[in-house]
Amino acid sequence: MTDVYRLLQFTDPHLYAERGGEMRGVRTLETLLATMRQARQRHWPPDAILVTGDIAQDESQGAYQLFRECFGALGVPIHCLPGNHDAPEFMQELLTQAPFGYCETLTLGDWCVPMLDSHTPGDAGGRLGQDQLDRLADLLNHSAGKHFLICLHHHPVSSGSRWLDTVALRNAADLWDIVEQHDHVRGLLWGHVHQEYDDRRNGVLLLATPSTCRQFKPNMIKFALDEDRPPAYRWLELYPDGNIITEVAWCDTQDPD
Ligand SMILES: [Fe+2]
Repeated sequence: MTDVYRLLQFTDPHLYAERGGEMRGVRTLETLLATMRQARQRHWPPDAILVTGDIAQDESQGAYQLFRECFGALGVPIHCLPGNHDAPEFMQELLTQAPFGYCETLTLGDWCVPMLDSHTPGDAGGRLGQDQLDRLADLLNHSAGKHFLICLHHHPVSSGSRWLDTVALRNAADLWDIVEQHDHVRGLLWGHVHQEYDDRRNGVLLLATPSTCRQFKPNMIKFALDEDRPPAYRWLELYPDGNIITEVAWCDTQDPD
């Protein structure tokens, strides 16, 4: 079917400038490459790739250069937005030329996919600035008949973990105020929580995707790693009737080719 759009989401790769950089015991470049290998074997080619923040762990320019190396030659548009660990100035420098896009709005047939910026300097939590809220409201007001999948880094609903909810989207109510004024928002998609989340609110699909590196244990009062969960990515299919079919793809091999 030509009017079904296929997307892949990779989130929270936490790369370092150094190729062997490790976060909590895993080499984040290796786990990212493992998820990409699996995606290329099983869910390829997508119409676009979404990368929903925390591309860098060390806020270095080198981490984004490494990211460009990984994603730059796939022949697919790569749409990025910043997370709390990111350095937006380096993203704007290195991720604004094709095939990369930074905080843009993808249009795929009848679908509109805004990539929103919730990065707040000095805060692990996030906030959508008035510019982002106005941008979203404008898009929704002027895109009647389109279906919306809204992407951001921080979770706009409770994650179920008390410690994680202290670093959520701090003005989620402002986002919901806008979303709830429209009936053509089909889904919200985020990263940050390093675990799978799949729910609905008034018919809007709410999706969080595990990281391409380490996962966090769900429903915890205090931080804990989920040692049982491998790296992952998500595939999505956007249908012309507004339906979204999606699943998290857990990585079942980390062996190099
Ligand atoms: Fe994050």
